[in-house]
Amino acid sequence: MLITKPNDVLSSEITPESVYLNRRKFVGASGSLLLGGALAACGKTEQAEAKVSEPPSDLAALEFSAVKKDAANPFYTTEALTPYADVARYNNFYEFGTGKDDPYKYASALTTNPWQVKVDGEVAKPGTYNLEDILAKNPLEERIYRLRCVEAWSMVIPWVGFPLGAMLQQFEPTSDAKYVKFETLVRKEEMRGQRSFSSTIDWPYEEGLRMDEAMHPLSFMATGLYGREIPKQNGAPLRLVMPWKYGFKSIKSIVRISFSKRQPATSWQQIAPHEYGFYANVNPEVDHPRWSQASERRLPSSLFEPNRIETRLFNGYAEQVAGLYSGMNLVRYY
Ligand code: MTE
Repeated sequence: MLITKPNDVLSSEITPESVYLNRRKFVGASGSLLLGGALAACGKTEQAEAKVSEPPSDLAALEFSAVKKDAANPFYTTEALTPYADVARYNNFYEFGTGKDDPYKYASALTTNPWQVKVDGEVAKPGTYNLEDILAKNPLEERIYRLRCVEAWSMVIPWVGFPLGAMLQQFEPTSDAKYVKFETLVRKEEMRGQRSFSSTIDWPYEEGLRMDEAMHPLSFMATGLYGREIPKQNGAPLRLVMPWKYGFKSIKSIVRISFSKRQPATSWQQIAPHEYGFYANVNPEVDHPRWSQASERRLPSSLFEPNRIETRLFNGYAEQVAGLYSGMNLVRYY
């Protein structure tokens, strides 16, 4: 993967968090409510502030249950949220190009409605599912997770979505389903990175998990962030979020889910197996062959304020997930 500097983000575009945190208070108070309604209740000043700092209003406000703001809740963190402007303008989505702002610039070309997900392999209920039918069965909730990219930058993102395990169970995987694989849409007309002759990826982008990893309560399918539907550059309309793994496992714009007996081939592992493993668990003690993984730049970061912090084993989720790997050599199975 390429390593590049963060874009220069105008300070006027940053900082949704104060507004967002206020809005979360509204949601927390009533358990669950339409954020649009909460905004309407805001005073004039806050509305004005919201204009520069909020996700664009063409992204629909979502109805979801707010995360419980308890420091002991693994679905939450007290760390500062990464401003919306960084979350939505500093991206990896090679289907739209390899530059960090290519997805922001070009993902609007993607049609996300209608959207279907093909489910096949070792499963009792294979088929092609409409996104609305999946959403109807999976109530939305909020999770505030750290995202640690293998390129050694990180963010804290307030996602909206539902547990991956709950959705997978609805397809009724058989006892032969030991792994699950995900694929991103291939649509060259709309995804300019897929038309590029210099692309290293053999499309579709593919990722996979062991079934016990997929069923873990932290594993999440995101359909939104910052209280609104997920921007296209972040993987609309449906993307995986695996908070204890390097970001490349969190595959975007999913159109296919396949259950298998054997470990599936995945994009980055096929491109550079000595650099990117199947497990890709965040581990400060296992360096990437070309750079250290001991620390990370927490965005926003700049030359003068690099905001460098130490990387934690399993991205700080060891208490929840270390048991999945007990007895495994994490250096060998990187
Ligand atoms: N999914 C697809 N389909 N294509 C990609 O290029 N990049 C991955 C992951 N999912 C990628 C993808 C990488 S390397 C990272 S770090 C995260 O998306 C970044 O997610 P974000 O842009 O929402 O921060």
